[in-house]
Amino acid sequence: MRKKIIAGNWKMNKTLSEARALCTEIQSGLAGGLPENTISILCVPGLYLLPVKELIGNTSSLFVGAQNSAAFTDGAFTGETSATQLAAASIPYVIIGHSERRSLFGDTDEVIKTKIDLALEAGITPIFCCGEPKEIREAGTHESLVKSQVEAAILHLDASSIKKVVIAYEPVWAIGTGLTASSQQAQDMHAFIRSLLLKVYGKETADSISILYGGSVKASNAKELFEMPDVDGGLVGGASLQAAEFLGIIQCA
Ligand code: PGA
Repeated sequence: MRKKIIAGNWKMNKTLSEARALCTEIQSGLAGGLPENTISILCVPGLYLLPVKELIGNTSSLFVGAQNSAAFTDGAFTGETSATQLAAASIPYVIIGHSERRSLFGDTDEVIKTKIDLALEAGITPIFCCGEPKEIREAGTHESLVKSQVEAAILHLDASSIKKVVIAYEPVWAIGTGLTASSQQAQDMHAFIRSLLLKVYGKETADSISILYGGSVKASNAKELFEMPDVDGGLVGGASLQAAEFLGIIQCA
């Protein structure tokens, strides 16, 4: 059975002491355990990866993740952090291809493919993001855009590597806007993405890959989204910055 994953994307928020306090509050809220077959990942700013990892300690249900990694292995790349460096610091997850990286930092499909390859080579699980902007949804061409993103970034992987990828479908029009895809819109796209996996890798592999929904997930809408058969959890931005709200979302898994 594929895992349910609730990942928080803190983006560039919180000071170090606030980050520690939020992590501690989430941990104590999870003291009674997570829903069955569910894990949670806190994707924190790079500066907080190690302190948050230290606070979390060794658990099999709560993990720390990075929000990006470099498209290069090592060398003169000021400001970048490589997947190898993350792996050496025992960071198990990294978000790759978030729409903010695509739109603000020039992460093209080609760059994203390279980052995915390097993360997998380093032994880190990439959380690969895809999703269409508003005008594409309105034009009705969202499936073909998401297909091209998925094809460009991950469908070249072999069957054992693809099983290590987590996919996050995040319609750009729903990120940080308060607009959420309806559970049916999410389900339709998730089933479509799974059908792309099925064609290349077969049913068993396609069925084993977790596909998360992201875009204004809140405690009040999470249950309906996570009940959909192909929605395997969420990538949560704004609502992951408040412990009670994030814990409420985890309880919906
Ligand atoms: P949001 O962000 O939950 O604030 O819409 C989601 C994301 O960007 O991953």
